[in-house]
Amino acid sequence: MEEQLSNQNNLYRPKTDITPGDRAAHMGQVPRTLWFTGLSGSGKSTLANEVEKSLLAAGHYTMLLDGDAVRMGLNANLGFSSQDRVENIRRVAEVAKLMNEAGLIVLTSFISPFREDRQRAREIIGKGFVEIYVATPLSVCEERDVKGLYKKAREGKIPNFTGISSPYEPPLSPEITVQTQGHSVQESAQELLGLLAPYLGQ
Ligand code: ADX
Repeated sequence: MEEQLSNQNNLYRPKTDITPGDRAAHMGQVPRTLWFTGLSGSGKSTLANEVEKSLLAAGHYTMLLDGDAVRMGLNANLGFSSQDRVENIRRVAEVAKLMNEAGLIVLTSFISPFREDRQRAREIIGKGFVEIYVATPLSVCEERDVKGLYKKAREGKIPNFTGISSPYEPPLSPEITVQTQGHSVQESAQELLGLLAPYLGQ
C-alpha cells in the first residue's frame, strides 16, 4: 500500500501499520532531538555524555551522535568547507529524525555553526527539536584547547577553523542556553537536566 507522491520523481511514501507514535508509546517516552551547538571545546560532547548517562539511568532509550565520530564514518567524505558543513548537518538531521521515528531520544553534538543549517535541522526533525546552546566564550574554549586545535588554527595549520577563520553564528532564540564557565561538568549537566525536564515529560 502506497500513498502520497513525494516531491522527488516516482517515489512513494510507504504506508506502514506501525507508526512512529506506536514505537514511542512502546518505549514509553517522548522522542526528542537534543541539538547541542557551540564552539569546538565549548563542552557540547562532555555535557551530552553526562546528560545521556542520566537519561539512561532514568529509564530512557537514547542515542548520541557526535561530530568527531560521525565524521569518521557516515560523513567521512566531508571536510570543513561551508558546503561540506551544510551537508554534514543535513545528514545528521535526517539520521536524528529516523532515530526519533524509532522512538529514541537523540543527543547531537556538532558545532553546527550556521543559523540557517540549524533552522533546516529544526524543520527536518520537527516538533521534537530542542536547541541547546553551549555558550562558552571563544576565549575560554581557546584557553582550554583540549585537543590543541586552536593553537594549530592560530598557527595557520588548520584552515576554516570555527571561531578563528570560519564564523560561528550563535543561536538567537534557543530553547536552552547553558553556561559552562566557572562550573563543574556535573553542575552544568544538572542545570541542563532541570531545564530539559519539561521537554522529556519527566
Ligand atoms: S560542523 O561545523 O560541521 O558542525 P563538527 O561538529 O561536525 O563540525 O566537527 C567539529 C570537530 O571537528 C571539532 O571538534 C574538531 O575536533 C574537528 N575539526 C577539524 N577541523 C576543524 C575545523 N576546521 N573547524 C572546526 N572543527 C574542526
